Amino acid sequence: MRRTNLTVDGRRLAARIEALGRIGALPGGGVCRLALSEEDRQARDLLVRWMEELGLEVRIDAIGNIFGLRRGRETGPPIMTGSHIDTVRTGGLYDGALGVLAGLEVAEVLNRAGIETRHPLMVAAFTNEEGARFPPDMMGSLVHVGDLALEQALATEGIDGETVGSCLARIGYAGKAPVGCPEARAFLELHIEQGPVLEREGITIGAVEGVQGISWQAFTFRGRSSHAGTTPMAMRRDAGLVAARTVAFLRRLAAEIGGDQVATAGSLRFSPDLVNVVPERAELTVDLRNTEEGRLREAERRLAAFVEEAAADEGVAVASRRLARFPPVTFDPAMVARVEAAARRLGHAVRRLPSGAGHDAQIMARVCPTAMIFVPSVGGVSHNVEEFTRPEDVTAGAAVLLEVLLELLEGEGP
Ligand code: GLV
Ligand code: MN
Ligand code: MN
Repeated sequence: MRRTNLTVDGRRLAARIEALGRIGALPGGGVCRLALSEEDRQARDLLVRWMEELGLEVRIDAIGNIFGLRRGRETGPPIMTGSHIDTVRTGGLYDGALGVLAGLEVAEVLNRAGIETRHPLMVAAFTNEEGARFPPDMMGSLVHVGDLALEQALATEGIDGETVGSCLARIGYAGKAPVGCPEARAFLELHIEQGPVLEREGITIGAVEGVQGISWQAFTFRGRSSHAGTTPMAMRRDAGLVAARTVAFLRRLAAEIGGDQVATAGSLRFSPDLVNVVPERAELTVDLRNTEEGRLREAERRLAAFVEEAAADEGVAVASRRLARFPPVTFDPAMVARVEAAARRLGHAVRRLPSGAGHDAQIMARVCPTAMIFVPSVGGVSHNVEEFTRPEDVTAGAAVLLEVLLELLEGEGP
């Protein structure tokens, strides 16, 4: 038996997803709303307007996190939900936006029913979850929980040389509220799966048990630029070759470590980047992920050894820089069980699964009981302009979110 007669309005939620998706829309579909860009500003403005229309008290903190508070009968820490509205350069309409806008939908359902909950509800949109412009990812939630100093976050330089602090000020979202407050009683994030498991198994709801560990590094290889026609092969110090060998090695590394290991070279830049010049410099990013910390460390060790050897072979110098490092996270078992039970009560097929992608929930899990709800991604595709989740699955996810939030908001067990 479900606990409530309240229902989410899937059409209203879909309309908000579409409206937000028009900001930074790419020709042919998808969105580009890199963190702290002009498009991010416009999306934030729309979100704040929606929050205000719903009567939420809007608070913007010094790292630009946006919080909308719906008061409860009692004061004290709120139940928090939300996600992010920044995207990668070739993003879709659902990654992040779904979680934030479903939070608004829950607030709207409560408003329309005239319900005053026991605990306050807080809808959050965290700054720079993607990390695509400014690493690390999950920056806003990291600052929120106190694990990344505000000053360090503000000084972070992006891939375009701009800093978080200057961009936040430019877009008008360097908020006055201190970071780190308020604390939350619990955090629940609805998100698209971004992988193929739910669709493949014909399951509507994923009860997310945890998030795999993430290791991001940037390697800079320095060799010597020389003439492509006159430099004998044996005399080259080709930074590009070492980077390319590293890219190819990642496939082997993932296969050798086996299991869940994934390895990606997402960005590679040569310089001087000319047809007839041996590259002097190559910059490469590596993303390694595994659900087991020990295996992730092993992958990092093997990669470091390979890079050193490949660079030495070619007489190339190598420097590495850590961009992000998150250990695997296990969500609160009682919260995961709530998601599973709520999905069943609402008549949805549900399974437990880990998250392959990073999420603000994995950071919030450090400070309060946390879990996530996944809905299927068509074709398992995300970080791609073709990212799509069927409207009925969006609605189902929001309904489960409402159901679990209602329990938490009333402080009901288990
Ligand atoms: C964030 O979306 C990540 O998992 O890289
Ligand atoms: Mn996301
Ligand atoms: Mn993402």
